[in-house]
Formats: sequence, C-alpha cells, structure tokens
Amino acid sequence: MSRAYSDLAFTPTVRAWQTRQGSRPAYARLDEAVDRHDALSGQEAAFIAERDGFYQATVSETGWPYVQYRGGPAGFLKVLDAKTLAYPDFRGNRQYISMGNLSGQDKVSLMLMDYAQQQRLKVLGRVRLVEASEQPELMARLQLPQYRAQVERAVLITVEGYDWNCPQHITPRFTEAEVEQAVQPLREALAQAQQQLRALHAQPSPGA
Ligand SMILES: Cc1cc2nc3c(=O)[nH]c(=O)nc-3n(C[C@H](O)[C@H](O)[C@H](O)COP(=O)(O)O)c2cc1C
Repeated sequence: MSRAYSDLAFTPTVRAWQTRQGSRPAYARLDEAVDRHDALSGQEAAFIAERDGFYQATVSETGWPYVQYRGGPAGFLKVLDAKTLAYPDFRGNRQYISMGNLSGQDKVSLMLMDYAQQQRLKVLGRVRLVEASEQPELMARLQLPQYRAQVERAVLITVEGYDWNCPQHITPRFTEAEVEQAVQPLREALAQAQQQLRALHAQPSPGA
C-alpha cells in the first residue's frame, strides 16, 4: 500500500479499529514513508491500459455510496499522465446517478480487475466532468470510432492514491478472447490429428 492511499483510507476511526485489532503497528511505518507514491508508475499505467472495465464508487449528497460498473473497449480508461486518468462517459440508461453524485462530491474509488491474472488495483481520485464544448482536444483523444456508443462527456480523474490488493480470493475467470487464445493451439492440434486419421483411412488396407 502507498502512503498516499493510507493517508486517505486510514481515517482516525479506521486507525482506532486497527489499534483494537492489533494491526496498527504493522501499518504505522506507512506514516513515515517519504515517497507517498501518489503518481502512477509504468506498472499501473500498463495494467490500466489493458482493462475493458472497472467498478466506480461515488458518494451521494445523502451519504450513500453508489457503485457502477463501467465497461468499454480495452484501454477506454486512459492514462493521460502519471496523475491523470480520463474516460468517455457513454450514453446509457440516462439515470445519471454517478454524474449527479459527482456534481456534489468529486471523490471516486475505482477498482480495476484482471481476473485471469488474479490482480486488482484500487485507485482513489477526484473527478472533474468535462463537457465536449469545453475541451474538444480531450474529447477527440477519448473517441472510440469502432465502438457503438455515444460519448456524452469526459470524466477526468486526478489520482490521489492507489493500492494493489493481494490475489487471495480472486477466482480466475477468462474473457472470450482469452479463452480463444488458449484454445487455438488445441484446435490446430485436433485439426492435424483429424487430417492424419483421414489420410490413414484413405490408405488401402493390406491384403485388400
Ligand atoms: C443503451 C445502453 C447502453 C449502455 N452502454 C454502456 C457502456 O457502453 N458501458 C457501460 O459501462 N455501461 C453501459 N450501459 C449501462 C449504464 O446505463 C451506464 O453505465 C450508465 O452510464 C450508468 O450510469 P449511472 O451512473 O446512472 O448508473 C448502457 C446502458 C444502456 C441502456
């Protein structure tokens, strides 16, 4: 865990729980860390670039957390620089719960999953909603011409902290593309075996 993340996540009440449960000493060294790791490194950037979806939590004006899954083509959540992410807000069910929440409270918590590799990255950030007319060059960077979705605005996220979770309890799951890639050599081997079998059957049997 980075110091930038623990500074935000370890509130006084969280710290009190850690003290009561005996885990506070193990986490105390984070408070002394000089490098806060509040900017993404190449490892996080590469991981984010491959994701085709993520879970996003926002907070409503009545204090309720709200989680929505955001999906799109791999890489639709872009790393603009080490402190900035952006994604196109596609037109969907037009409930605008996330947008409404973000208008009052700019904090988001993202969870990015790689089920196949059992990896999980959590990001805390602050959001600015950017309308198309405001920053046309940013909108152009986020357009996905091959994807059948209308982009309503850009969601710009300033990264405040991040944390990699341990792989425990992440059941490996595979996308259609990942399964296809794994199965392809098997398909080829099967086709080759079938061809050999056909060739064998085509040979006249001895004594016939
Ligand atoms: C026609 C239609 C298209 C949608 N397309 C997407 C999409 O491309 N990506 C996505 O994450 N959700 C999509 N959704 C699901 C949600 O509507 C969308 O995430 C929405 O923006 C959620 O907003 P909320 O913050 O009000 O929950 C779609 C829904 C509909 C009805």
